[in-house]
Amino acid sequence: MAYNLLKGKRGIITGALDENSIAWKIAQRAYEEGATFTLTNAPIAMRMGAINQLAEQCQSKVIAADATVTEDLEKLYNESTEFLGGKVDFVLHSIGMSTNIRKGRPYGDLNYDWFVKSLDVSALSLHKMLQVAEKLDVIAEHGSVVALSYIAAQRVFPDYTDMAQAKALLESIVRSYGYRYGKLKNVRVNSVSQSPTKTTAGTGISGFDVMYDYADQLSPLGNASADECADYVITLFSDLTRKVTMQNLYHDGGFAHVGISEGIVEKMKD
Ligand SMILES: NC(=O)c1ccc[n+]([C@@H]2O[C@H](COP(=O)([O-])OP(=O)(O)OC[C@H]3O[C@@H](n4cnc5c(N)ncnc54)[C@H](O)[C@@H]3O)[C@@H](O)[C@H]2O)c1
Repeated sequence: MAYNLLKGKRGIITGALDENSIAWKIAQRAYEEGATFTLTNAPIAMRMGAINQLAEQCQSKVIAADATVTEDLEKLYNESTEFLGGKVDFVLHSIGMSTNIRKGRPYGDLNYDWFVKSLDVSALSLHKMLQVAEKLDVIAEHGSVVALSYIAAQRVFPDYTDMAQAKALLESIVRSYGYRYGKLKNVRVNSVSQSPTKTTAGTGISGFDVMYDYADQLSPLGNASADECADYVITLFSDLTRKVTMQNLYHDGGFAHVGISEGIVEKMKD
């Protein structure tokens, strides 16, 4: 059901790789809620071509940009404001990548060049997106920026290796830049800490299926799906949440605050 929550709002959505991507669902919901937006992803992700189908569905424009490259981000903002006809009201950061995870490197044998790359792609890119946006002054007053995080920033999930540090850094940037942009332009910055979700980035983590089932059984409401994440993020882009900023918001069916569940106790008895 649509509520016109984003009627007249303009935005930029990163990270829609294929129809499983959380950003893909957010783009579809944003469109249903009346927003206009550009879609962006790293040039290498464009090769798959799926993003063009999404753009067609959402009457959007695709602008290639590596979120770690300042010049690409300048181009992204300039072309977006031109296409959209003004400053943007919302920005979604839905970007994560760890070569250490992809190559199955354990925490005690990380490749440091890849570690630095994980931090750059998955966390510093948020700072870069915000800094370039501030310098070009492309986010409208009372705009909203949302980044996606995971609870490995607070608690240990051994197979999440260097992405745990990337998410902790991401959430720290949310607070520091949220303070700065709030003072400057009433722009709010938050992260949404999402349940395990079956996407390309998610399922690349070894043991993902077990993590997924465990979280689902521990959470009183069960895992939150990508579609439900999209619903939540839409509220954060809307005018209904104008005083929410600098927060890491759990969207995980209650997982973050549960120690053990009856179901897991029963399983452990076996
Ligand atoms: N899937 C999960 O279980 C889960 C849980 C919590 C949080 N998240 C977070 O949600 C976000 C989206 O991930 P997803 O699960 O939808 O997977 P996904 O693989 O569909 O999305 C990750 C995106 O990051 C993009 N990307 C990688 N390097 C980039 C770069 N240099 N510049 C621009 N874009 C780049 C990829 O092309 C891809 O579109 C990530 O931040 C991820 O950590 C995922």
